[in-house]
Amino acid sequence: MRHVIPAWIRIAALLLIIWGGTEFLIDSGDKLAIIEYPMLQLALAIVLLFLISAELIIAAFENILFKSLSDEAKERYMEAHEKRMQKYDLKRLYRKLAGTRPLSEEGELELDHNYDGIKELDNKLPPWWLYSFYASIIFAAGYMFYYHILDGASQEMEFEQEMAEARLEVEEYKKNAPDLVDAETVVLLTDAAELEQGAQIYQTNCMACHAADGGGGIGPNLTDEYWILGGGIKNVFHTVSEGGRSGKGMVAWKSTLKPSEIQQVSSYVLSLQGTTPANPKEAEGDLWTQE
Ligand code: HEC
Repeated sequence: MRHVIPAWIRIAALLLIIWGGTEFLIDSGDKLAIIEYPMLQLALAIVLLFLISAELIIAAFENILFKSLSDEAKERYMEAHEKRMQKYDLKRLYRKLAGTRPLSEEGELELDHNYDGIKELDNKLPPWWLYSFYASIIFAAGYMFYYHILDGASQEMEFEQEMAEARLEVEEYKKNAPDLVDAETVVLLTDAAELEQGAQIYQTNCMACHAADGGGGIGPNLTDEYWILGGGIKNVFHTVSEGGRSGKGMVAWKSTLKPSEIQQVSSYVLSLQGTTPANPKEAEGDLWTQE
């Protein structure tokens, strides 16, 4: 067997097995062990070198042994080798699977009719074809029984079912992933810690234009009930995320802030409603009433 597989395949296969073994034995979490522990790469490289040298040494030994044989023994060795190789001859295996008979046997196969010089051979069906055909018959019987007699789920039913499951999963995921909030699903936060986070974001990013207390400056007053772009958490979230009217100076913050942060700062902005800033800017926009 050893002689049939080329040395490089033997080495590669052994290396793969050893690597697979280490991956199996070493617990490295989600990552591959060789990525988590770079030392392993070195170890595998050494193993590779070792395997190569082992192959080289064995080959050299065989060579020396072969040369030390008498001529007759050499011949016998070669014969045995040939036989061994024949056992694993791919071409023969292929011929067997394809069921073809050599051209020399054509005479036996010929049918005795002759159409204007066109002759017909009676070749056997190739075994690979024949057995796949039988397998397909068995499969068809099973298929018919399951889907047409036992009422197995049709593709459409399976699709509907999977979609329903997926929808549930998405809902579940959205509940636990705050960064998936958008202007449609956003709700006003009232939790003190969340508002504190919002205040911090506000002080870092918004104060320059809307004043520390929301009284307004370059941007409009955020403490009154008048809104240019609409009040309420959904509109405010949308404005902060997508920006104001173009050219007015209010940029879209969605590239800087995460959705959860926009929700926090929007909630904070709305918590300023009704407070009295030091230098309130005159009201702009329309009086906002909750629908
Ligand atoms: C560069 C100055 C600037 C910065 C910084 C800025 N804004 Fe604005 N903001 C404006 C301007 C100008 C407008 C008016 C936009 C319009 O008229 O379309 C505005 C509008 C708004 C509105 C809508 C007001 C309304 O009446 O509809 C909200 C809400 C708002 N900003 C919140 C924020 C938040 C929150 C931040 C920080 C994340 C922020 N802004 C940072 C300039 C700014």
